[in-house]
Amino acid sequence: MTKKDVLILGIESSCDETSIAVVKNGREVLSMVTNTQIDIHKLYGGVVPEIASRNHVMNIDTVYNEALEQAGVTIDDIDAIAVTYGAGLLGSLIVGVNFAKGLAYTTGKPLVAVNHIEGHIAANYIAHIDLKPPFACLIVSGGHTALVEMKSYTNRKLIGTTTDDAIGEAFDKVARECGLEYPGGPNVQKQAKLGVADIKFTNMWKEKITDFNFSYSGLKTAVINYIHNEKQRGNEIDVPRICASFQDEAVEQIVKKSMFALQKFGYDKIVLAGGVSANARLREMMDEEAKKIGASVFYPPIKLCTDNAAMIASAGYYNYIENKSIADPKTLVPTSNIAL
Ligand code: KG4
Ligand code: ZN
Repeated sequence: MTKKDVLILGIESSCDETSIAVVKNGREVLSMVTNTQIDIHKLYGGVVPEIASRNHVMNIDTVYNEALEQAGVTIDDIDAIAVTYGAGLLGSLIVGVNFAKGLAYTTGKPLVAVNHIEGHIAANYIAHIDLKPPFACLIVSGGHTALVEMKSYTNRKLIGTTTDDAIGEAFDKVARECGLEYPGGPNVQKQAKLGVADIKFTNMWKEKITDFNFSYSGLKTAVINYIHNEKQRGNEIDVPRICASFQDEAVEQIVKKSMFALQKFGYDKIVLAGGVSANARLREMMDEEAKKIGASVFYPPIKLCTDNAAMIASAGYYNYIENKSIADPKTLVPTSNIAL
């Protein structure tokens, strides 16, 4: 390590992963330790906030010690502490934020407050070492569906967002209606591979193809109504066929709108971020359509698509070197809902 290297300790606890990472110069992961609670929440069909925050409290110390140990550093080597302060589950955020505040206060290290979504975008800086703004970015997660212009590392402009549900939320809801386990997205994808996408649920978004806002509640409701009607008629539910049809329609909306956005705003790069960017059908359709207009597509590797602390450390790094989002360890408060 040279003297000029900057080491950021990233802390993420916004939902059901307790994750801490050490990242060098915003791009190189020296360690990332994640304790996932998926198996616990699976029993309830979704994340139970109280259980999530209790588990963060129980695990965060161990995760922290292992992250430093695996990176081969001590807290003295760290330049700044970056923490997700929102958006997310309040009880979960509180655990990570309080841990980070305590650490920053006792060590005197700068504290960087990171927007969770900015973190998801930054996952791509780790994966694609030469990737630099400007680019267009599509954020698709359990809580967000949005297109943004990344004008610089810390300056972004919203192009469009969902007017109702997020795409990940729709995947999770459809999974639940089909009797699939939490987390729904990957299970819908697995089932979809076994079916033919020949049910047309709703194509209302096609009428608004040139506006950049998204809608998923109509599609979600159409799938639920379809399943209820089939059950009422005594028909067997063809889960693979429903999943394939839903997935194609869900994915087509974001892909087509992203292509319009690239052309309208003059970008030749689209960067995907968030849990749903792990979806194989989305990647396939996005690659196909981007090729037609000569644009390149960037994805994070699957393990950096979902919540993790390396992406928080990377986003923290770019804020830290630009002296932005530096928080007071005595007063930083987590926020469940923050704008992009
Ligand atoms: O970004 P993320 O880990 O958490 C949030 O910040 O929301 O995203 C979680 C969402 C969930 O809705 C999950 O079902 C979805 O990402 N997801 C997927 C896939 N993997 C995760 N959705 C579709 N296909 C996948 N392969
Ligand atoms: Zn997330």
